[in-house]
Amino acid sequence: MGLEIKYIEGQTPLSEEEMEGLMISSITTRGELNEFEQYNIEKAIEWTLGLKITPKQLLSEKFIKDLHKKMYKDVWKWAGVFRDSEKNIGVKSYKIVVELKNLLDDAVYWFQNNTFSNEEFAIRFKHRLVSIHCFPNGNGRHSRLFADLIMQKLYDRSYFTWGKENLNKANETRKNYIKALQEADNNYFKPLIDFAKS
Ligand SMILES: Nc1ncnc2c1ncn2[C@@H]1O[C@H](COP(=O)(O)OP(=O)(O)O)[C@@H](O)[C@H]1O
Ligand SMILES: [Mg+2]
Repeated sequence: MGLEIKYIEGQTPLSEEEMEGLMISSITTRGELNEFEQYNIEKAIEWTLGLKITPKQLLSEKFIKDLHKKMYKDVWKWAGVFRDSEKNIGVKSYKIVVELKNLLDDAVYWFQNNTFSNEEFAIRFKHRLVSIHCFPNGNGRHSRLFADLIMQKLYDRSYFTWGKENLNKANETRKNYIKALQEADNNYFKPLIDFAKS
């Protein structure tokens, strides 16, 4: 019994134990799972719209967790909880807290010193966040919404458009997105910035 999920390139498979954290027992397909997640994420986005938050509060471990929790709490028991299993993407699970602290310290510095353009700051942050891979799943969508919130809450600028397609499906746009992430893995951020604005 239970849900068998087929994974596409660049997705993080869930462990048995993580699969058991599914809150909605009626879900039997990836399509249904995506829909429930999407519905939860839309509620989270609505919550962010009215949210007043300082840069220090935004760039904090607490908010990283709170946002993930808001996005997935109706679907996954482990929403907002750092993973303790190893994944094909991401740092060793015991290193998550310290790697995230390094990122957040860097980000506060970048923000205060205007080290990068607004866009490059948001995209560099998003890429390092998803490369740490704090959670068992949902890291890609969480990191994209986080980049959007950097733009909106820190700079009063509009959200990125991320190729204007559903990036959870194996399509051409997702391929371009994964390619841009791989360029960013090599410290070349322009393709990912261009993609986010497309
Ligand atoms: N080479 C890579 N470098 C950095 N991030 C990557 C790479 N490949 C995939 N990713 C990110 O990891 C995400 C998959 O992680 P996952 O936790 O399953 O997130 P989601 O469920 O939101 O897709 C992808 O959506 C993508 O954002
Ligand atoms: Mg996933």
